[in-house]
Amino acid sequence: MTIGIIPAITTAAYIIAALLFILSLAGLSKHETSRSGLTYGIVGMAIALIATIALVLRTVFDFDDTNLQWILIALMAVAVVIGALIGLWKARRVEMTGMPELIALLHSFVGIAAVLIGWNGALGGYHGEASAVDLRTMTNVHEAEVAIGIFIGAVTFTGSIVAYLKLSAKMKSAPLMLPGKNVINLGSLVGFAVLTGFYVARDTHNDTTSLILLGVLTALALFLGWHLVASIGGGDMPVVISMLNSYSGWAAAASGFLLNNDLLIVTGALVGSSGAYLSYIMCKAMNRSFISVIAGGFGIEAGPADDTDYGEHREVQADAVAELLSGASSVVITPGYGMAVAQAQYPVADLTAKLRAKGIDVRFGIHPVAGRLPGHMNVLLAEAKVPYDIVLELDEINDDLADTDVVLVIGANDTVNPAAAEDPSSPIAGMPVLEVWNARDVIVFKRSMAAGYAGVQNPLFFRDNTQMLFGDAKDRVEDIIAAL
Ligand code: TAP
Repeated sequence: MTIGIIPAITTAAYIIAALLFILSLAGLSKHETSRSGLTYGIVGMAIALIATIALVLRTVFDFDDTNLQWILIALMAVAVVIGALIGLWKARRVEMTGMPELIALLHSFVGIAAVLIGWNGALGGYHGEASAVDLRTMTNVHEAEVAIGIFIGAVTFTGSIVAYLKLSAKMKSAPLMLPGKNVINLGSLVGFAVLTGFYVARDTHNDTTSLILLGVLTALALFLGWHLVASIGGGDMPVVISMLNSYSGWAAAASGFLLNNDLLIVTGALVGSSGAYLSYIMCKAMNRSFISVIAGGFGIEAGPADDTDYGEHREVQADAVAELLSGASSVVITPGYGMAVAQAQYPVADLTAKLRAKGIDVRFGIHPVAGRLPGHMNVLLAEAKVPYDIVLELDEINDDLADTDVVLVIGANDTVNPAAAEDPSSPIAGMPVLEVWNARDVIVFKRSMAAGYAGVQNPLFFRDNTQMLFGDAKDRVEDIIAAL
């Protein structure tokens, strides 16, 4: 096989990889086909990686200098091995509750890669195979690609870093409310358009003035990414993650244009558009304005500080809860992030089986953003072998809660907060919640009176029909099983 046929083989490999990515997305859209969807994605990515390495090696072998060839190959091998080792180590260590922050961190890598590729393009570095009639040499399209690629990449980079810090609780999840935040965002966008216009319109693009324009543009985009995500409250973080996923796709597509790499363009567009659609669906489910979220909380102003005196809460012990459950005929369990932290799904499944064996009707109510990942609770309950048919969505269970004897709120907080339905000034106002307070008795499992992820006090804890069962959710559920 001669080196010359490598581009033809890589083109074929890229088409196969692109088709596999489309099949992967289709597979991931349903529970039953998600495993095969993942397999398509992994195979597609392996093919894409091998084809790209072959293409790069071919370029390296075009150099006359043999020493340089071996240095470049050695550098590439070291980079691939280090990257693969870090990836393997991180993926094996990460808990499921830590997935969103890992995903946010990975999005930031795509962002910074797009910024570096943009700068490489600006400084006249490698930008793929030149076609016979390269329109970009005749127009300033290349410079526009550089500016847009750097902008999307930089916004994705700092936005994802802030998302990572918020999700890993290294930064407060409450929204940053700078005065005139909407003007700041709009001003940054206008600034980007003006700087891009000046940069693209210049006759030469590698002089000091052009590089200064590009430097200011990069700094502005880095600031905008930070500000957009910092301005969004904890309750809207699920939408922010899928939005950054979408941005990382567009950043990859922009890099594809700069590198003249068709697969990167196709893959980036697939990730960008599917991420945007997922953000839209999530906004609808959470009763949020899509435009407001992508514009960094546009139209949302800081509400008054919550200094309401909600009164006293009541505490309960595990044996009293066991007694309450024994006398109930219907029980609904609404799990949340705390169940995942405590890994309480196994005792929860045991408790469910015990109560059902006594003839008690037990069902689960799952909020669309309970936990830290879409479908987080469903995965945990499926892992613990809770039957699918008793696990219901918010819409399917909400109307039945008024006729329920006991609701067990296991490590959930924001998703059962009545303020969302009753207090228009609440930061989570309008978000659909599980209306557990309508049940006869509510038992809340948590370790303290601390607020949930959105940082908002929960009036549910002070209601007359609510009792708090403090401690680690797994221990408390096991105590109830023992008492039963
Ligand atoms: P949260 O509002 O996050 O509250 C979880 C509660 O669990 C906390 O109040 C905590 O109270 C308790 N907890 C933690 N560890 C526990 C343990 N070991 N045992 C017992 N309780 C424990 O939970 P939620 O109702 O599931 O709501 C999810 C929130 O996360 C929403 O605001 C949502 O917007 C956001 N979010 C969701 C996603 C997705 S896609 N699902 C992604 C990012 C953010 P203590 O500390 O007092 O124990």
